[in-house]
Amino acid sequence: MNKQMTDTTLDLFSDNSDQATENDESVAARMSALAKDLERWNYEYYVLDAPSVPDSEYDKAFQELSRLEKQYPHLKSKASPTERVGGEARSDLRKVRHAVPMLSIHTETDFEAEGARAFDERVRKALGLSDTDEAVEYDVELKFDGLAMNLRYENGLLVSAATRGDGLVGEDVTANVKTIRTIPLRLPEGVPEVLEVRGEVIMHKTDFERLNDEQRLDGLKPFVNPRNAAAGCLRQLDPKVTAKRKLSFYAYGLGEVSEAVASTHSGILDQLQKWGFPVAKEHQVVKGWQALAQFHDWVKSIRQTLPFEIDGVVYKVNSLSLQNQLGFISREPRWACAHKYPPEEALTIVEDIDVQVGRTGKLTPVARLKPVFVGGVTVSNATLHNEDFIAELGLKIGDTVVVRRAGDVIPEIVRVLPERRQGEEKDFVMPSHCPVCGSETFRDEEEKDTRCTGGLFCPAQRRESLVHFASRLALNIDGLGEKVIDQLLEANLIETPADLYRLNEEKLLSLERFGKKSASNLLTALQNSKETTLARFIYALGIRHVGESTARDLASHFRNLEALMLAKPEELTQVNDVGEVIAQSIVHFFEEPHNREVIKNLLDEGIHWPQVQSAAVNEKVSGKTFVLTGTLPSMGREEAKALLLAQGAKVASSVSKKTDYVVAGAEAGSKLEKARSLSVAVIDEAKMLELLKG
Ligand code: IVH
Repeated sequence: MNKQMTDTTLDLFSDNSDQATENDESVAARMSALAKDLERWNYEYYVLDAPSVPDSEYDKAFQELSRLEKQYPHLKSKASPTERVGGEARSDLRKVRHAVPMLSIHTETDFEAEGARAFDERVRKALGLSDTDEAVEYDVELKFDGLAMNLRYENGLLVSAATRGDGLVGEDVTANVKTIRTIPLRLPEGVPEVLEVRGEVIMHKTDFERLNDEQRLDGLKPFVNPRNAAAGCLRQLDPKVTAKRKLSFYAYGLGEVSEAVASTHSGILDQLQKWGFPVAKEHQVVKGWQALAQFHDWVKSIRQTLPFEIDGVVYKVNSLSLQNQLGFISREPRWACAHKYPPEEALTIVEDIDVQVGRTGKLTPVARLKPVFVGGVTVSNATLHNEDFIAELGLKIGDTVVVRRAGDVIPEIVRVLPERRQGEEKDFVMPSHCPVCGSETFRDEEEKDTRCTGGLFCPAQRRESLVHFASRLALNIDGLGEKVIDQLLEANLIETPADLYRLNEEKLLSLERFGKKSASNLLTALQNSKETTLARFIYALGIRHVGESTARDLASHFRNLEALMLAKPEELTQVNDVGEVIAQSIVHFFEEPHNREVIKNLLDEGIHWPQVQSAAVNEKVSGKTFVLTGTLPSMGREEAKALLLAQGAKVASSVSKKTDYVVAGAEAGSKLEKARSLSVAVIDEAKMLELLKG
């Protein structure tokens, strides 16, 4: 043993130092490290009711230490955590010595049917049964994920309730247990003089959620899971607090009894139920290992629907005389075994955080995990929803986290272990540009998420945009549903809505399930959709927050697509029901060059609509062609253009004989000359504003 190591836990092994070899030294160091971790976790779990690691992590270390101790018995310490069944009793609760020790049960490590077969095989072997002998009868039940409890009744009255503690000495929690309403305080006539009932104190899932809601409201830390909440409640020094938090109890066996209750385990459960104890209805009497495995599978399938949490099933030899015959090995009965489900929580490392772009442009951060086996599958990703979620978790890239996967629910990160940080961890920053298309992103404060402004250009948003574009209230393209759009995208026949209008019979016939008839129907529908209305077209663009009725209001206000495209937020908010948020969204959409490109292509493909009529047409402007040149005194050329377009004017970029007015500002150049040479009317900004007034 390396004497320079001052680690106190290493002293546990020092009495073996004579036998130590070089290999022993590294094994001893490993065992010491495991023992140290286990002791700390044990303390956090049992004494503080605040575990820092999931059970699976504890079990893993425990199993490794047990294995090493078997392999290197001379290195095993008398103070090893494997010598303990439970944890230290808290000094502030009275200690109670159990009349009959509260044992633990052997846990099968194989999560599949093999676990059931192995147990049955051991039982048969110990009973000296051969293959031709009949199947052993078992009582099979749920393995409650709570706290073992011993209830002692003397002359039919509850006199004491104690936790398991270390199996020999537990804690007196009688006052708290009396607050559990399903536990009888007085039993009917005819019960044994001394009757100890054993079972599990748990908290139902709904009661747990309610308690945590209250904890949060009170600004207190929520409990990690129902079992820890139940433990916290049982340990309350003030029973009034316990009474307010709803605990439950299910009986599963006996401790000391002054006379026999039944001759089988199922008989005991039936009797306990008759005496008023809650017994979970899911227990069954079955024969043979296949039935054990079947029960294991069945319970797995109903697990999520149970009102409380379980972590496996328990198999018990039903006959009490066979139980006696089987007896115990070390501190575990040979007649019972727990067959667990894969852990629902595990520790892993967040190796990176990627950002995915959803169909509506929402950027979703996704944690890339060091693959971990949890809830029966290997998990390597977990959604992080949005920036706020990451902030609430306090998560950094490189952090060690608790991943949970319960049933078929998608895996999630539930907790970060900041104490595991090495200093290399990095903060996550939401990208300012879309990782798919490179467009700018913006944060939607109201919805707490970040979005890509790429719109129709962004491949991630393309599919959704196309589906929306073709939908009934948009361009209403008959026969162009999600399935066909997916087919077209997969075949690379389309990217943007404009591509739809470049489809032809040949391209469509190359698709599966497309015949001449369906191809021709779709082409006709596409042709028909080209004649639309401005309102439908605006709606079809799929601008965020612009629903069908806003699209109509925008169409009748601006009457012209270009005017809408150039509108400033101040102008947009003048439209019915358009507030800051919608105005910003519209401006963002049209600012994106890709969106403008898509619109241009659609118009080039021949999409058109009738001029939107306004109540009073300004004859001086409507239908006239303007050209803007030079620097205007009070506004930008784009703004002037928007004003003109809004009143039905056309704004051209070059001067021709068809030009009605050239609006010239300072330093106007060649366009002004051209206007003069063609005798086109040249006006200034003031004159233009006068015309606009009508
Ligand atoms: S029987 C001698 N039955 O699992 C056998 N235990 O180590 C004594 N548990 O913490 C236990 N559900 O509280 C038994 N249906 C069940 C159980 C059950 C949960 C717990 C028990 C103890 C652990 C066994």
